[in-house]
Amino acid sequence: MDKIVVLDFGSQYSHLICRRIRESNVYCELLPYDSPISLIKKLEPKGIVLSGGPSSVYLKGSPKPDKKIFEMGIPVLGICYGHQLIVNEFNGKIKRFDNREYGYADLVIDDSSDLFKGINKKIKCWMSHADAAEKIPNNFEILAHTENSQSAAIANRDRKFYGIQFHPEVSHTEEGNSILRNFSQSISNAKPDWTMQGFIDFSIKDIRSKVHDDRVLCAISGGIDSTTLAVLLNKAIGKNLTCVFVNNGLLRLNEETLVPELLNKHLDINTVSTNAEERFLSKLKGISDPEQKRKIIGEEFAQVFSDVTRDYGPFQWLAQGTLYPDVIESGFSKGPAAVIKTHHNVGGLPEWLNLKLLEPFRTLYKDEVRQIAVLLEIPNEFIKRHPFPGPGLAVRIIGEVTYEKIRIVRHASSIVENELLRSGWYDKVWQAYAAVGDDLAVGVLGDERVYGHIVTIRIVESLDAMTADWSRLPYDLISKISNRITNEVNGVTWVTYTVSSKPPATIEPQ
Ligand code: XMP
Repeated sequence: MDKIVVLDFGSQYSHLICRRIRESNVYCELLPYDSPISLIKKLEPKGIVLSGGPSSVYLKGSPKPDKKIFEMGIPVLGICYGHQLIVNEFNGKIKRFDNREYGYADLVIDDSSDLFKGINKKIKCWMSHADAAEKIPNNFEILAHTENSQSAAIANRDRKFYGIQFHPEVSHTEEGNSILRNFSQSISNAKPDWTMQGFIDFSIKDIRSKVHDDRVLCAISGGIDSTTLAVLLNKAIGKNLTCVFVNNGLLRLNEETLVPELLNKHLDINTVSTNAEERFLSKLKGISDPEQKRKIIGEEFAQVFSDVTRDYGPFQWLAQGTLYPDVIESGFSKGPAAVIKTHHNVGGLPEWLNLKLLEPFRTLYKDEVRQIAVLLEIPNEFIKRHPFPGPGLAVRIIGEVTYEKIRIVRHASSIVENELLRSGWYDKVWQAYAAVGDDLAVGVLGDERVYGHIVTIRIVESLDAMTADWSRLPYDLISKISNRITNEVNGVTWVTYTVSSKPPATIEPQ
């Protein structure tokens, strides 16, 4: 399959470049900026994109790619920092300008013969830079400019090197997708053959060739990723698949009956359910630190899988629905991204478990898994369900996990979901839940003064959980949710609504 490689110089938008290129059906992979030329050549990319990044090319130690990428004879597109790298590499000059350009700019297109083909003469583009080209290299020409950047887009057509100062990958840039499509399909000649039906066909063959006659244990949570994975595995290996659903006591309301029912009845997949509530909650007793909670939950899952293997095995493989952003955010990144939270389903298994890890969705984005779920005819109400974190309610309970706090978040979250469904808001938001901590506030119940919990509502909109914005719900709806929670959930006196975006906040409070 034809592909484009994006080298990641640390921009917060690197994965977006990758997604946008895939959206136009060209397969794209994100690699660390310092990937050796041998690795890049092995992938046989049709073109390379150099991402943006926080550094300055003229600083000592700033990230640089292997120079040999410029000798591969394939097109290269530099974006922002990537553009400056190209200018620098071919003896142009980059310097810091006093007028930092940040936000919208009008891009005037001077040459629309290839990169800007089919695009209006003037478009809005998104700029985010302090450095810019003072002098462009010899043999490069200007393709577009803005008021502050005379060389906002440049090219050396003979060698097919292109540099753009703005970010075509963010939705703020008009026709950004067309620019990336022109680069990947017209200039690089990559065939648009990345489709989710193609992925399913390839994946089924790939799973079969890896697994042969081995038996696979698939942990399912009821979320879209693991459910879709189970259906795909069922297609690939049928009776050699056993699904396990673990009730860890940290699930949403009624989840422990709903999920096994979906798999057994509607999808005809053999599912073992195990109640490990006591085990998980006793291990979590007295633990407040979120990363420690994740670690304990991860270890306990491994113990439960080990027991299931003993009772229903032997199994040789454990399948998980790990996605590309999980891989990136867990610091197993292909670029210089910091570890923010360790998502427990990434990073391998304890060796003593003696199971090999099967992660067919490791390169996929969530919207791609959704497309696969539709193609595999998973019922719509499951496809539309909000994502739920692996450690469950433990990361929505601030401080120690107690039965009392579990009862509160479970009940309050079901009210949040219920009201969103009723008002038609459920499908418009990415995640919506209630969280609770140890803070108490005074309330009045009847004529009595009570001291109860503060419940925090978090409702966010997002495309992929990498960034998110809080939902501007109508006040009346927030008010209804708040009233229902204080009236119906015992021990709650106050309800707050979160107005922090990601970044700087994260989606889950822990
Ligand atoms: P944050 O809180 O990092 O969440 O903004 C991003 C997305 O990941 C989910 N999440 C997790 N998923 N294990 C998981 O499987 C975890 O430890 C974990 N922590 C957060 C979160 O619900 C959101 O969709």
